[in-house]
Amino acid sequence: MKLLDGKLAAEAVKEELRLQVADRAVNGKKIPHLAAILVGNNGASATYVAAKVKACEQTGFISTLIRLEENVSQHRLLESIHSLNQDPAVDGILVQLPLPKHISEQEVIDAIDPQKDVDGFHPVNVGKMVQGADCFVPATPLGIMLLLAHYKIDTAGLNAVVIGRSNIVGRPMSILLSANSLPGNCTVTLCHSRTKDLAAHCKQADLIVAALGQPLFLKKEMVKDGATVIDVGITRVEDTTKKNGFRLLGDVDYENVAPKCSWITPVPGGVGPMTIAALMKNTFLACSRK
Ligand code: GUN
Repeated sequence: MKLLDGKLAAEAVKEELRLQVADRAVNGKKIPHLAAILVGNNGASATYVAAKVKACEQTGFISTLIRLEENVSQHRLLESIHSLNQDPAVDGILVQLPLPKHISEQEVIDAIDPQKDVDGFHPVNVGKMVQGADCFVPATPLGIMLLLAHYKIDTAGLNAVVIGRSNIVGRPMSILLSANSLPGNCTVTLCHSRTKDLAAHCKQADLIVAALGQPLFLKKEMVKDGATVIDVGITRVEDTTKKNGFRLLGDVDYENVAPKCSWITPVPGGVGPMTIAALMKNTFLACSRK
């Protein structure tokens, strides 16, 4: 079993970006600027946004964090987005999801200028991704593709199973893995909560991406020998022995699945850091496209 070390691969991506940003600075070009909006006090969301801001600092990007109250109106949030859309200093905009129930996530996503939509959630970017056109690709699936590329994993012709059909991970992942590109060129099965005999689908897979958000869901009986397993899950479960009161569990029963795999991502330190590296890459792209 070999580890797909997302921390290591993400450092490589960010170092490359840091050098490119330094080069832009020397040549008097614009420095990438990411604006993040965080609504409310969700602990996990606050941690993710803080990690994104920290990655901006590491790579020499400018960042702006806008924090809005949990009870902020949708109108007020849309106003913030409109002003960031119009601000030429800002290259990339992200609104951390999930949002409070009284706000329509779709209306918020639709309000972001597609040229600044570094999360790749806007319908214009989703449509372009499906067509294989130049666009912003959502950070988690893009990060997984970068991780596979970093470890030179040949995915052509593989049977891939993606578990979970979210707009953020599962659905775009299935599209990227089936694209006529490298990594890509897989035969993809997209499994979800209504899939009959999910274990049988997984058992025939050469590559499994688990993105359903159920801790320890993927068991060793569901994985064939030599498979590559990507764990997107990152659920906080209470753990009083930890200083922060919780530990992070992936969707894969790592301890028992790992010995069967040719490659596997750890949690934490697998997909998480790659998501952030991919967001930085998208923000750099948004800036350099101008
Ligand atoms: N919530 C979980 N993943 C993501 C992500 O990639 N982007 C945003 N904006 N919110 C998220």
